[in-house]
Amino acid sequence: MAPRKPPSRKGSMADVPKDLLDQINRLEDLFIVPAEKLKEITNHFVKELEKGLTVEGGSIPMNVTWCMAFPDGYETGTYLALDMGGTNLRVCEITLLEEKGEFDIIQSKYRMPEELKTGTADELWNYVADCLQQFIEYHHEGEELGQMPLGFTFSYPATQEYIDHGILQRWTKGFDIDGVEGKDVVPPFEAALAERKLPIKLTALVNDTTGTMIASAYTDTEMKIGCIFGTGCNAAYMEDCGSIPKLAHMNLDPSLPMAINCEYGAFDNEHVVLPRTPYDIIIDKESPRPGQQAFEKMIAGLYLGEIFRLVLLDLHQNPDCKIFEGQDVSKLKKAYSLDAGFLSAIEEDPFENLSETLDLITHKLSLTPSKPELELIRRLAELIGTRAARLSACGVAAICKKKNWATCHVGADGSVFNKYPHFKIRGAQALKEILDWPAGKGKGRGDPVEILPAEDGSGVGAALIAALTLKRAVAGQTAGIKDPEALLKSPMAKFGVKE
Ligand code: BGC
Repeated sequence: MAPRKPPSRKGSMADVPKDLLDQINRLEDLFIVPAEKLKEITNHFVKELEKGLTVEGGSIPMNVTWCMAFPDGYETGTYLALDMGGTNLRVCEITLLEEKGEFDIIQSKYRMPEELKTGTADELWNYVADCLQQFIEYHHEGEELGQMPLGFTFSYPATQEYIDHGILQRWTKGFDIDGVEGKDVVPPFEAALAERKLPIKLTALVNDTTGTMIASAYTDTEMKIGCIFGTGCNAAYMEDCGSIPKLAHMNLDPSLPMAINCEYGAFDNEHVVLPRTPYDIIIDKESPRPGQQAFEKMIAGLYLGEIFRLVLLDLHQNPDCKIFEGQDVSKLKKAYSLDAGFLSAIEEDPFENLSETLDLITHKLSLTPSKPELELIRRLAELIGTRAARLSACGVAAICKKKNWATCHVGADGSVFNKYPHFKIRGAQALKEILDWPAGKGKGRGDPVEILPAEDGSGVGAALIAALTLKRAVAGQTAGIKDPEALLKSPMAKFGVKE
């Protein structure tokens, strides 16, 4: 058996020469976000969330989702859920059981080929429909299925006039498929289903954050916000229709709830308040959508490794310190070659001599850092990871402040939240600083605003939103449902009826 790892390291900068220490100090100045700045960001954030709900709008889209209720735990029926995430495509079949809050799930994962992200729209929809077809053929061979309601988790910003339609505003997270932006994504998707004669009816187009909020609320009634801290970042919360000026023309009952997909990755696209470093500016310039997703590009998993790489490359080229002097940096020059998992692994190195970090850098980049350079590398990973967690907390705090919620539960999902070391505790500490909690709080568990691991939003959450849509159509509440009559005539309507 391998020897047990020590739980943490103290670290020491005692042997770090002056030129490197100067650089570390410079990086600390660039990346540390003090409490006062977090508060300033949060206050600006609150105003921008409000602006997004107005007719004129702002840079945060605050998309109306037409998910208009929390589940009560007694939803029933069998649903398909399709999750088109960044790395995988997942198809689930979820049966919501009679017993409160209970469900069965079967699922299959399919790899999302990298080429698809920059391919054509046809390739994308054909691939997605093929996966659904495989799933149905595998699990229901020879069965007569009727029509199955589908909750489609499409985790990109989409404006929704109806719950079962959505116009993609723009791709995020490095996707760059021509001919989809500005268009309704549902018709081409449905056409691909029809070509294959699949017995599926898209009932709800869902954002992963809305799914996360609803799935988490299924088992915890204090859940008020759903968040993703993953490849991208975003949150959804429940607003009341009366506080959404851009919906005023619909004359909806002002007390009705409406889930808002904030799309707050776009916060501060106009660069007013976020402390961007020269590295953040490069990330933005070289991305497929410059000027977009300013907040996301500083905190989301897709970018953390790239920020780190850009700093190291800069320090190598900097005549004042020249790290990796005389070594071949060709691997370090490759854009997006380091991911957030690489940074996590560095932050997890428990050894005083940073031997695991040395192995990682040698293995991945064919470089041999000196001991002081390793200290700098570790500190840099901590700075980038800590900044991400602290800035992430501003989004959650802003929603709470906007809604005057002193306490609530927040359901969170995503690779950074689930896997990045110390992310949760750093985020909790930042919430404490922003929201001025007393001593003893800011540790996560038992905090007034507690960010908890979410239930499966893009599976169970999407199924629940499809169920809630059928339920309210049957109850005659048809706002935001494109063709309620067709829905009511379909065999799926039985799922909306309480027995
Ligand atoms: C997308 C959001 C999504 C978030 C988390 C962002 O890039 O625009 O729709 O919720 O990533 O997946």
